[in-house]
Amino acid sequence: MARSFTQEVEITRLGGHGDGVAETPKGLVFVPYTAPGDRVGVRLLKQVDQGVAAELLDLYQAGPDRVEPPCAHFHDCGGCALQHLSGTFQARWKQDQVRDALRRRNLDPEVVRPIATVAPGDRRRAEFVARRVGAGVLAGFNRRLSPKIVDLEMCLVLDPRLVALLPPLRDTFTGLLKPGAGLDVQATLTDTGIDMLLRGFEPDLAARERLAAFAAEAGLARLSLRRRDGEVEALLVRGTPQVTFGGVAVTLPPGAFLQASPAAERLLRDAVLAGIGDAARVADLYAGCGTFALPLSGKAAVTAVEGDAALAEALRKAAQLAGCRVTVETRDLVRRPLQGAELDRFDAVVLDPPRAGAREQAVALAASKVPRVVMVSCMPGTFARDARILVDAGYRLTEVRPVDQFVFTPHIELVGVFVRGEGDA
Ligand SMILES: C[S@@+](CC[C@H](N)C(=O)[O-])C[C@H]1O[C@@H](n2cnc3c(N)ncnc32)[C@H](O)[C@@H]1O
Repeated sequence: MARSFTQEVEITRLGGHGDGVAETPKGLVFVPYTAPGDRVGVRLLKQVDQGVAAELLDLYQAGPDRVEPPCAHFHDCGGCALQHLSGTFQARWKQDQVRDALRRRNLDPEVVRPIATVAPGDRRRAEFVARRVGAGVLAGFNRRLSPKIVDLEMCLVLDPRLVALLPPLRDTFTGLLKPGAGLDVQATLTDTGIDMLLRGFEPDLAARERLAAFAAEAGLARLSLRRRDGEVEALLVRGTPQVTFGGVAVTLPPGAFLQASPAAERLLRDAVLAGIGDAARVADLYAGCGTFALPLSGKAAVTAVEGDAALAEALRKAAQLAGCRVTVETRDLVRRPLQGAELDRFDAVVLDPPRAGAREQAVALAASKVPRVVMVSCMPGTFARDARILVDAGYRLTEVRPVDQFVFTPHIELVGVFVRGEGDA
């Protein structure tokens, strides 16, 4: 197929990654930044799994759900994929994605509740990239599928306090990076200020002083560096980066996992609390630093299990200090899922695995007597796979609550509740 062949196609739907899909006599064509009903001119680029990936060249006719993208960087920046679609369409599409994932595993799509959405501008974690190009430094996000950097002047998704870091970052690193050199900058907004972790940069003494001055000027709570050997070193600590879960303050390790948006976190937490019913003994698996374990401990005795030693330790310390009913175990749940009698002592199990899901733990739960399981997931496909394992073992999937935590992207968060046998939903 000639690489620069240009053709007109009509978009009929969105694919799973948020690209518009055209059904042509020669097969499917995937076009980013298009909407159902659009007639567009495209350049075919390359063969992909189920068809051909294409680049949008011209919009001849706009579909009914197309809107003006609100951000000046849309199309250029790899952060967002759906800004050209109305909020109503995005919500409906995300909800349908969850339903379709269930249908593909022969699970009942009717249990999916209306999606709860979060306003843009609430994201509290950013993974910026910065690179010296010419005399200056570009700082922002990568372009879509490209190492090139979009020098962000605005971002509607991030909390504005994170966007405000970009100008001082550029100024600071202009004097510190050699031409072509770059680094990764992870910034997390905590209750006590911004916690920043730098990666891919080896500062000398002068650079350390400059960075300490930057941290003070930008009002960071803490600035740390992940060195080449993987160790994390604090460059400047001006405050203790903390977040509060269920009224308990947790001191975060550098680079700690947090739910992306505080508003989404509250929705997920409420769904988890409702999902466990009146359980008195609860396991919180893939617990992070206590997003669910600490609020759960207000109504139940909690055993929290987490694979990352630093996160587990942060939770352990916070729970001890506050006198919460939380015991913490550091454990790899893929290699050593909770099994048998270990599981059967719980009235409910909450699990919130990464995108890969929790197949091994689901298999162990399938063999257990645990009456209720609440699964939080950022990946409907692996959620449905693991849900099938539970349902085949006699659990009923009673409800799924999607949460649009990742606005303007194709990603979806959800909470599913499973009840064993004929137990109360
Ligand atoms: C999606 S996060 C959820 C964390 C927490 N529930 C929260 O809401 O903040 C997934 C968590 O699973 C942990 N994790 C990843 N792989 C794991 C494994 N094999 N065993 C145990 N924990 C793991 C990660 O460190 C991370 O904290």
